[in-house]
Amino acid sequence: MARFILEGGSFAPFIQTPVPANELIVSRTDLHGIITYANETFAAISGYDVEELIGKPHNIVRHPDMPASVFASLWETLHQKGAWSGYVKNLRKDSGYYWVYAEISGVYKEGVLVEYKSLRTPITQEQATTMQERYDTLRTTQEQLIRLCTYLSKHSYETLTQRAGIEGCSIGVLIDRLAAKTAEV
Ligand SMILES: Cc1cc2nc3c(=O)[nH]c(=O)nc-3n(C[C@H](O)[C@H](O)[C@H](O)COP(=O)(O)O)c2cc1C
Repeated sequence: MARFILEGGSFAPFIQTPVPANELIVSRTDLHGIITYANETFAAISGYDVEELIGKPHNIVRHPDMPASVFASLWETLHQKGAWSGYVKNLRKDSGYYWVYAEISGVYKEGVLVEYKSLRTPITQEQATTMQERYDTLRTTQEQLIRLCTYLSKHSYETLTQRAGIEGCSIGVLIDRLAAKTAEV
């Protein structure tokens, strides 16, 4: 008899939201990383309303798979008045995630640094898989945390998408239903 215990009873954390190819995800923060501006695309991809994001620390979308050292290097670069770019896995409000390539730099008014801005673009699934492995390694070696992530194969994903269409639900709901059945076996 097989019995699986699911963390939190949900597969939502494994659901990736694709980032639209033709839209930029834009946000700005004050000098302490508090969000001062978020465009509609950022709100839509992160699952929040724009109003919910404004005034919140940008780590509202921090994903637990991101190594602390990546953000340490981001802030070090910003404090030296440099521009930082890199791959970021972000957490959605519904516990899912999305991957982006982010470019973060200072906003200057009459030569004075007043804010930071970030522009983000989509990355390929291959890049996401490579970065997931790299960040898993960084976290396990630098931070002694073990939380390894395994992606569904493209085939499994397509099969699930078809079946979710037939059942008229999202992939997340379908996976939860299948998992509930498995747990009863
Ligand atoms: C303009 C700007 C954009 C940022 N965008 C993100 C982001 O999309 N995701 C994220 O996790 N952190 C982002 N950060 C970094 C966060 O401020 C924060 O340092 C990070 O989430 C780590 O959280 P922690 O500092 O509380 O450990 C951004 C910072 C700035 C200045």
